Amino acid sequence: MSGVSEQPFLDDLALSLEEAWRLLVSGSKDRKSPLHTPSVATVQNNGSPSQRIMVLREAAREDRILRFNTDVRASKVVDIGDGGPVSILGYHPEAKVQLRLSGLGRIEHNSSAGDAAWNEATLYGKRCYLADPAPGSPVRAPTSGLDPAVEGRKPEGFEVAPARENFAILLIEIDKIEWLYLAHTGHRRALFTWNMDNSKWDGQWLVP
Ligand SMILES: Cc1cc2nc3c(=O)[nH]c(=O)nc-3n(C[C@H](O)[C@H](O)[C@H](O)COP(=O)(O)O)c2cc1C
Repeated sequence: MSGVSEQPFLDDLALSLEEAWRLLVSGSKDRKSPLHTPSVATVQNNGSPSQRIMVLREAAREDRILRFNTDVRASKVVDIGDGGPVSILGYHPEAKVQLRLSGLGRIEHNSSAGDAAWNEATLYGKRCYLADPAPGSPVRAPTSGLDPAVEGRKPEGFEVAPARENFAILLIEIDKIEWLYLAHTGHRRALFTWNMDNSKWDGQWLVP
């Protein structure tokens, strides 16, 4: 396929939404996808925005949930509290699609979904949650925050087990998807808003 104008979703809202979810789902599974590591923004207590890169672990279209893993002691967890606004931003250069999503975030610490996410994490991944003191703590000297005994090698299961208490998942229920598709023939921008009354996405073209 040569011309971008051949993209079937170009002038089709429903297909643009399909493509948005397809990119998100593949981004959650494919480590090489640029949508595997979007920016996740929260609002701090003082009203300032704060963003960071996170690994997108799961994108569930049917319940509109994106899942990320986090240390329960992290500042983003404080920002989100019992349910705070979260914005997620990613750009897929090959697909030429920018996705700006938003919704309400919640943290699950000791839930079965949290256990499942912990069980599927690698030993190296689990080791990050052993950091002591907590992530973001000021320290006098450069450090990984890890005990030297577990640095520089693959840890054993029993060594990372205590890190479970610091591990949590961030679940974001998406209620807005902003789609921007770049094309030489003319960009396309659309906004999809979740309609709670009929449980459907309302789509609307916007000027790019
Ligand atoms: C490629 C990459 C992937 C990252 N993945 C995660 C992640 O999945 N979860 C996470 O909490 N932090 C992740 N981080 C670290 C965050 O960007 C951030 O520095 C850290 O979580 C502290 O954020 P906070 O103080 O705003 O909570 C990642 C950083 C990079 C560069």
